[in-house]
Order: sequence, then C-alpha cells, then structure tokens
Amino acid sequence: MRINTNYLQLGGRYLFAEIARQVSAYKSEHPEADIIRLGIGDVTRPLPDAAIRAMHRAVDEYADTKTFRGYGPEQGYDFLIDAIIAHDFAPRGISLDRDEVFVSDGAKSDTGNIGDILAPDNIVGITDPVYPVYVDTNIMAGRKLCYIPCHAANDFTGDIPTEHLDIIYLCYPNNPTGAVITREKLSAWVDYALRERAVILYDAAYEAFIQDDALPHSIYEIEGAKQCAIEFRSFSKTAGFTGVRCGYTVIPKELKADDGTSVNALWNRRQCSKFNGASYISQRGAEAVYTPEGQQQVRVTIDYYMSNAAFIRTSLADMGLTVYGGQHSPYIWVSTPDGEDSWHFFHRLLTDANVVVTPGEGFGTHGEGYVRITAFGTADDSRAAMGRIKAIL
Ligand code: MLT
Repeated sequence: MRINTNYLQLGGRYLFAEIARQVSAYKSEHPEADIIRLGIGDVTRPLPDAAIRAMHRAVDEYADTKTFRGYGPEQGYDFLIDAIIAHDFAPRGISLDRDEVFVSDGAKSDTGNIGDILAPDNIVGITDPVYPVYVDTNIMAGRKLCYIPCHAANDFTGDIPTEHLDIIYLCYPNNPTGAVITREKLSAWVDYALRERAVILYDAAYEAFIQDDALPHSIYEIEGAKQCAIEFRSFSKTAGFTGVRCGYTVIPKELKADDGTSVNALWNRRQCSKFNGASYISQRGAEAVYTPEGQQQVRVTIDYYMSNAAFIRTSLADMGLTVYGGQHSPYIWVSTPDGEDSWHFFHRLLTDANVVVTPGEGFGTHGEGYVRITAFGTADDSRAAMGRIKAIL
C-alpha cells in the first residue's frame, strides 16, 4: 500500500484545528481564563423556530411505518429543491431546472469534493487570502496553484489574470476579508472564464449577509455565467445550520468541459456513487427556512450578527486600526497594529485579552498583517472582546 503523497505537502494541521489546539493548550495551562472565541466562523444563535418545528415533525415521521423514509434521493428531495429555486433564484430572474440543484451536507464538502470530477492537471487560481479548504483540497489532488493577490487596492477582489487558468475559486461576500464584489467586477471574471474556457467555482455561502441589493447574490445574475460557473450555497451561516448540516450546489446543464462532457451529469454520477443525500430531517429544516415565518426569523438573526459586525467595526476603527468588511459580511478584516505579525498578534490577544481571532497569515501570505474577527459571537461577547482589545492596545 502507498499513500497519496500529495497529502504530505499539506501544512501540519487544518487552520481552524490548529487554532483550536493552541487555544485548548492555553486553556489547560490557564483554566481560570474566560476566553471569548471570535475565531472560527461558527454561529451562536438558535435555529429559526420554523426550522426547529419542521425538524421535530420530520423526526416523528420516522416513528411511523406509514411515514417512515429510508434512503432519500442522492440529489436531495424535490420539496427542498423547489423551495430553493423559487426563493433563491426565481426572484433574481434566474431559471433553473430541478436537476441543476444538488442538495448536500454543506458547502465545505462540496467545494472540497468538486475537484473529484476535474482533471489533476488543471491550473487553479486561488485568491489570496482564502478559505483554506480550496487550497488544501487542490494540494491533495496534486494540482498546480496560482495565487491571485487580494488587497485593499483591488478591493480584495483580485486583478483579472493575464495568464491562463482552468479553475478559479471566488467567494463573495468573501471569507476571510468580508469584501463584496460588484456586478461589474464579477462580469469581468465571467468574461475571463468564458474567454479562457475556465470554470469559476463561486462560493456564495455568505450571500444572505448582503445589505445592498445592487450587489449580486448569485453569479448567475451575470450573463453567460451558466456556461462557466458552479455556485455553492449553505444554510450554515444563513440559518444556523453549522451543526445540522445542509447546503446545495448549482451546476447548470449549459456548463460543458472542453471535450463537451456535461459537468452536471458527471457530478450527478459522482454523487450517486459517493453520497447518500443530506438527512431528511435537515432538508425539512432547510425547507422551513423559506416559509414566511422562517424568512422573518432568519432576518432577525442576520440583523443580530450584523449589529455585532457594526459594533466591532466601529470599535476597532475608534482604536485607530484599519478595518475592512463587516458591512455585507459577518467577517471583519483588520490590520494588525503597527504591522505586527498576525500570529504574534493572535497570541497576544489570546494571552493578554483572552480573545480568540484568526491570524490572517493562516488564510495565505497576503493575509499577513491582518486578523479576522467574526461577528457570529453573542452581542455580550462582542462588546466584552472589544473592551479587552482596547485595554491592551
Ligand atoms: C470559517 O471560520 O472560515 C468557517 O467556519 C469555515 C467554514 O464555514 O467551514
């Protein structure tokens, strides 16, 4: 037996596992420390009541032979797919067929697994800083990575490359910088992909946080995108499903590989062999997110997080730090004081303020000099953390 030696090229640990390890090592040495965790983007508000009630009903269905269900469709139940198309796409003028939507257990799995159907010799464009899953999973596959620097001067949306790329990962609103992309800039990326016959892997997991309707929620709002883009969505951050697990991926039938193969058909083939569908319970919960009361409850939760984001943004700016994001995104991207090394600042915040953030360098070399703070904590923790940071600066 031989292993896939590409795995040996990965860094020691997945970023958030490494941070968790360092925080727990600190906590075991300082059990009295009251640590506020604003590192990993994990939600803290309860699920919308509509989703909770729908999941209870789904559990009860399992208790009765008349309503019991075994394996579901690998692609997801029609009741959820219909709700997704009707609420997330139709109002934006995007028409999709049922078999263009694949329900899954979340965007992390899908953005990681999509590489299964793409050749290892594709050249991959990775915006930097970036969600580490895109990097790690392409290293696992042995693909060549080409980094696209994202910084304040290009609004963290990257410059359109002059060289050829086959696959481009874009995530907007962005993790980690909290940046958004305008319709014009996204059109420029779509034009590039069409010209180069590349595919854009568009991670829209944070679209529900967009506050300005002039900004695109879906890449399919851009003409031509169905021929060159796959879009990933998640209920994790929208509706608090980080633990429940449910998301979906859109692969339009118009998207064809260079040899004419249907990417949609290939993904369907992959899913049927490797995936048995997201749980019925979580799909019923996700469906309920689209009911009028579910929508209203989701809005309240998102407003709660966005009010944390506004508070964090203004507090850090008042401390004299340069702050990005947090306006259409739950992430605040902040320059370290006096260019301090991001891991050094992370450690200082952990030990002196007992506040956990994510060091920017963990997201890529262009993340150096920044840390990411999430607005997914409680309002009390967000306030307390800002007070503690202010006290040590
Ligand atoms: C993050 O902190 O970047 C997110 O929690 C990652 C994820 O959604 O997997």
